[in-house]
Amino acid sequence: MTSPVDFTRFPRPLLIGHRGYPALYPENTLASFRGAMQAGCDMIELDVTLTCDRKVVVIHDDRLDRTTAGKGLVGDRSFEEIKKLDAGSWFDARYAAERVPELPEVLKLTAGRCMLNIEIKTSAYEADFPADAIEHQVVKLVKTSGAMDRVIISSFDQRILQRIAAMDAPPAVALISDHGADKIILDLLLAMQAVSWHPRFTVLTRDQVEAVHAAGLKIFPWTINTREEAQRILALGVDGLICNELRVMQAA
Ligand code: G3P
Ligand code: MG
Repeated sequence: MTSPVDFTRFPRPLLIGHRGYPALYPENTLASFRGAMQAGCDMIELDVTLTCDRKVVVIHDDRLDRTTAGKGLVGDRSFEEIKKLDAGSWFDARYAAERVPELPEVLKLTAGRCMLNIEIKTSAYEADFPADAIEHQVVKLVKTSGAMDRVIISSFDQRILQRIAAMDAPPAVALISDHGADKIILDLLLAMQAVSWHPRFTVLTRDQVEAVHAAGLKIFPWTINTREEAQRILALGVDGLICNELRVMQAA
């Protein structure tokens, strides 16, 4: 399969904003995504899950408690209920007007400006794979918004990625890992024709970088917070950094 995303247009490692620009803005909000684009990021990473009325919303935790004024599980609330919640004051009172975005809002905001790395949370996996499962919805939204050439869909959950990889003309997929690239991971990446591997940066070694590159994939580690971390990980030859602090690459 030819990747729908052409990485050859990037002459240097990609700067990827983790949940937008969470060092300066409330994570996974439109303010955070605008801030990340203003800071010059090439790609934005964001997390998606489903509400009880099956809307694709952008939030990291399964619960509303940490990043909104609400309480309880995201999956127990309708989008109308969630849309009323302040998703910015927990970070700073200036951002009281921020709301939990729906995925189409982010696709629209970033159109023509920035790539997206859409992480589907494992908790959104449904064994019966209904017609409106999150995998179907996300792929449909990406296709109808004309974003196939600028989106990577990632997950820790190989079942989610395998379902997407098996679709007709699938978008680019990427596996997120908490541990190093052993043979199991390499076989999985090849089987799903992943375009990239996203390891926790602390587990990455030069040997793994070489093995994953030899298999034809890009490597985008997370989550880099300091210039020292950026310098060390870039020296391994990775293709980009998923960062909380987007100024780390300025001096790297
Ligand atoms: O996509 C990389 C990273 O975001 C994975 O962990 O928990 O921050 O979504 P988490
Ligand atoms: Mg994430």
